[in-house]
Amino acid sequence: AEFTAVVKALWDSWEDGALIGDRATARFLDLDRLHAIDHAGPYYKVRGPLNVPRSAQGHPVVLQAGGSGDGRHLAALHAEAIFSVAHTPEEGRAFAADIRSRAAKFGRGPDEILFLPGLSTVIGGTEAEARRREEELWDLLPIDYALGRLAGLLQIDQERLALDRELPDYLPVPIDGMQTFFGATVHVARRDRLTVRQLIRKLGGSTGHRQLVGTPEQIADDIAAWFETGGADGFNLMPDVLPDGLETFADHVVPLLRRKGIFRDGYEGQTLRDHFALPRPVGRFTAAREASLGQAQQIA
Ligand SMILES: Cc1cc2nc3c(=O)[nH]c(=O)nc-3n(C[C@H](O)[C@H](O)[C@H](O)COP(=O)(O)O)c2cc1C
Repeated sequence: AEFTAVVKALWDSWEDGALIGDRATARFLDLDRLHAIDHAGPYYKVRGPLNVPRSAQGHPVVLQAGGSGDGRHLAALHAEAIFSVAHTPEEGRAFAADIRSRAAKFGRGPDEILFLPGLSTVIGGTEAEARRREEELWDLLPIDYALGRLAGLLQIDQERLALDRELPDYLPVPIDGMQTFFGATVHVARRDRLTVRQLIRKLGGSTGHRQLVGTPEQIADDIAAWFETGGADGFNLMPDVLPDGLETFADHVVPLLRRKGIFRDGYEGQTLRDHFALPRPVGRFTAAREASLGQAQQIA
């Protein structure tokens, strides 16, 4: 959190218009619009200003991931888009509501944060074809490797995992591990009473994200339903295989989303911030300058 605060302060250390670059008047910088940040905290001591001018976006878009208590706090403070894990639109809405209510306490509005749950896709021309593809990919998964990854995620010895049994009953939440993926994985396993083998299969080599197997129509309908019920603002797309899983998505799912009117035909802006329709942050020094100008005008 301190690191992010420092970086954001540095992004503000050049106000808009600080770089003049006018040869005729021989003025390179407007030094009144360049500021030291003089940060001194437990981990960082940074004087500033930054050695590059302010971004066209004000700040580059801040993306965050991690849904533990600490992760949510960090998200509420700083995130503009969040990679989350959600298996139902209800879960997506509940997570968004929690983060937005925490963010409101920091003076942040609901439209300042977007939620992008992970979505893994396996696409086929027919549902049977998609299932076949899923089977073929599953057969390629080295089981020992998948077991090792699962044990690592759960932070237990691999020997404690038996392929044809359910997960051990006692699984403490790892303190310095990835709590979001731990929670998502254990949740799916317990909810569906899966053996370790079934669990690994269900996760499809991923770490607990939702997986959709079906035709382009089924996938587009599912995405539209999530989007329209506020379960997600967008998705962090994880095609089964790169690049062809992504190409199939672009060629066959995107046109259907366009027809539904929920995917753009072209870019309206120039930056990622524009594409996300996120507000452009006003620099803190600019805000202070404008506030003191306003006060001066009131006095006058
Ligand atoms: C959905 C999701 C996506 C993530 N993507 C990345 C990533 O792209 N790069 C990365 O370094 N960490 C990534 N992480 C790890 C998080 O940044 C974080 O370190 C981790 O989730 C621990 O926080 P937690 O206990 O709050 O979950 C991701 C985590 C989640 C939940």
